[in-house]
Amino acid sequence: MEIARTPIRKVAISTGGGDAPGLNAVIRAAVLAGLERGWEMYGIRDGYNGLLMPEKYLEGGVVNLTRDRVRGITHLGGTIIGTTNRGNPSSYPVKNADATYPEVERSDELVRAFNMHEFDALISVGGDGSMSIANSLSQKGLRVVGVPKTIDNDLDETVVTFGFDTAVSFAVECLDRLHSTAASHRRILVVEVMGRYAGWIALESGIAGSADVVLIPEIPYDINLVVKKIIDREKAGRNFSMVVVAEGAIPKGGTVTVQSKEVGRAERTGKEARLVVLGHLLRGGSPTANDRLIALRFGAAAVRALDEGQEGVMVALDPPTVKYVPLSDATRRMKSVPLDCDTMLTARDLGMCFGD
Ligand code: F6P
Repeated sequence: MEIARTPIRKVAISTGGGDAPGLNAVIRAAVLAGLERGWEMYGIRDGYNGLLMPEKYLEGGVVNLTRDRVRGITHLGGTIIGTTNRGNPSSYPVKNADATYPEVERSDELVRAFNMHEFDALISVGGDGSMSIANSLSQKGLRVVGVPKTIDNDLDETVVTFGFDTAVSFAVECLDRLHSTAASHRRILVVEVMGRYAGWIALESGIAGSADVVLIPEIPYDINLVVKKIIDREKAGRNFSMVVVAEGAIPKGGTVTVQSKEVGRAERTGKEARLVVLGHLLRGGSPTANDRLIALRFGAAAVRALDEGQEGVMVALDPPTVKYVPLSDATRRMKSVPLDCDTMLTARDLGMCFGD
């Protein structure tokens, strides 16, 4: 059903889910592109909390994003308007008297608050969860354009998401540093990286960082094969090993991620092991030039989409350009590592062990 739309005057931006380097570049590009069109641009604080719990914010749950407010933020990690990954309006945690947090349906309340602010359109920046929320708000009649964001790079409809390049680059820098200490102490260094469901960060940082073993959620690993790889290296005079593990990697028939002591236990490898968990370090920092460019392109493309009358779509990288895909398709499939992709084949040609 076509909804008669009035000309756009006021646009709200929401950043949701785990933060990622590049979010501020998206905000800056969207704000400048909107201001260029004579629109007023606003940020909703902390996902949608600024509209659902305005009383929490002394300076108000919605911030006017002027040219000055977005000056000099392209290179800053995080998001100047804040985010949350516990703010789904369809199942919104509300504190009870007994300090429990039952989740309640508050989408319609959000739509009412959105309309009370007289916003004409919403730019939602986030991962799969945020894109699902954006789709449901679009179904409720809001004029929404989504911008994909996650360091995990696990959104199938876009070739890559901003944040991923920065996370991989930092992980490789860490692996380079850990190589020397592993070699000096003849140890096994187990480096855990983020990636709950997809192993892109582990795979790409493992290859670029010359890891010997990479364990990803897509390949349940056999720890005996990991141990064999390490012992074979030892026999070949390579008396240290680098193991990169995605946090979502699981053993065959098991449910827990590899423990460094399991890999380094004396009776298994006869070697010491140390574990380094990079965790949220991969979510921080200044975005790489590549991520800044993707993020700036995505932010400007979201405004162009609205200006062209598009809604219910997500911008996506489709090299060499940016395209719009239906929000309803945006989270249909997660982008797992295809086991026959050339990156995987390259890793195997380099002799990397995946525990299989
Ligand atoms: O989705 C991005 C991500 O960084 C995952 O890789 C990670 O498992 C998760 O977010 C961590 O979420 P939180 O910030 O809530 O700990």
